[in-house]
Amino acid sequence: MRSSPAYSSMPHADAVALLRRAPFVHLAATLPDGRPLLRSLHAIVSDGCLAFHGSPRGEKSTALGGPAVVSAEEVLAELPSYAFDPERACPATTWYRSVQLHGVLRPVADLDRKAAVLDALMERFQPEGGYQPIAKDHPLYQKVVRGISISELPLDGLVGKLKLGQNRRPEQLQAALHAIWRRGKTGDDTTIERLLGLLPAHPTPEFLDAGPNYRLCCALADESIEPASQLLASAYWNTDRSQAQIAAALRGSSAVVGLRCLKTGSLVGVGRAISDCTSRAWIYDVLVVPELRGKGLGTRLMQLLLDHPAVRRVQQVLLTTKDADGFYQRFGFQEIGRSNFRTWPSITMLRRVAARR
Ligand SMILES: CC(C)(COP(=O)(O)OP(=O)(O)OC[C@H]1O[C@@H](n2cnc3c(N)ncnc32)[C@H](O)[C@@H]1OP(=O)(O)O)[C@@H](O)C(=O)NCCC(=O)NCCS
Repeated sequence: MRSSPAYSSMPHADAVALLRRAPFVHLAATLPDGRPLLRSLHAIVSDGCLAFHGSPRGEKSTALGGPAVVSAEEVLAELPSYAFDPERACPATTWYRSVQLHGVLRPVADLDRKAAVLDALMERFQPEGGYQPIAKDHPLYQKVVRGISISELPLDGLVGKLKLGQNRRPEQLQAALHAIWRRGKTGDDTTIERLLGLLPAHPTPEFLDAGPNYRLCCALADESIEPASQLLASAYWNTDRSQAQIAAALRGSSAVVGLRCLKTGSLVGVGRAISDCTSRAWIYDVLVVPELRGKGLGTRLMQLLLDHPAVRRVQQVLLTTKDADGFYQRFGFQEIGRSNFRTWPSITMLRRVAARR
């Protein structure tokens, strides 16, 4: 029996999207004297081509008119061997998506297009602005636009490849997700959410299970930060913070967990921690929407947050609450002090972890 292939090809639109968001690409070409050329560079997708700039006297320019290949890749997950086999090293692998663009490097001569490529490069790689837009007749750029070399490769030679455990059975994928969660390297929380996003039919792993209608999230993707900060803006302890500040705090946290409604996809709970990953972690912003409280979802959210890799290994977990001390006692937190922190009387609580895991 033939086993399923470990890869699949990527739809053209997905391959173009990867090329668009790549922080940089690799260019390989052959120099006129036969030596290979390999460069990492910033490039943009524009007018059906990948375009980049260089010096007219640089080595890249001597490769114009010849065959070239550009590649870009994204690592989706680094899988340890023990995710699939308790003894053999061989299954250790990386899942990724990558693109290659083959073609003939051609120069861009039109000055308007050269200026447009340079301006698009600035917009892509310096989105915060702080410069005059580039135009061929702008006194700041006239000479530059004429003098610089812009090269392009048409996108028709683009192919993309996806390696995402296509040869693995669902129970092997499930075991792999658990192994990544237990390993708990920095970024493994995001990796798990990325994999679940790419495998929408895959059943929820046990550690993210929150009953038939909800699922826990062990990390929040960037697009979920705004809904999370909206939820938290209603909390009594955030009345003196703007939504932008709450979003910045979420982005700056070591662990952010969420609770999502499976039917609507909306975020209905959130919690976060900052941690040094060794001695201490502080829990903040634990909240379940009012209409879903009292159903055990807050408990699942807290259990996940305490089991998050940034929290599970610390010796002391701390938090401050006005009145939810009864809730936190259930997880082993004990009161260690009271104060008038900010505008309300607050209880500081500590949970010690006896043995290191
Ligand atoms: C605190 C909170 C996250 C708990 O979520 P939840 O989904 O209601 O929690 P659960 O349903 O898992 O509750 C588990 C148990 O804790 C108890 N509990 C919940 N909130 C409590 C509170 N504020 N104080 C004391 N006990 C509480 C519940 O009654 C329940 O007890 P039971 O098992 O005997 O019925 C939620 O009530 C909430 O968002 N509150 C407003 C925000 C808040 O105060 N967050 C804490 C800030 S420090």
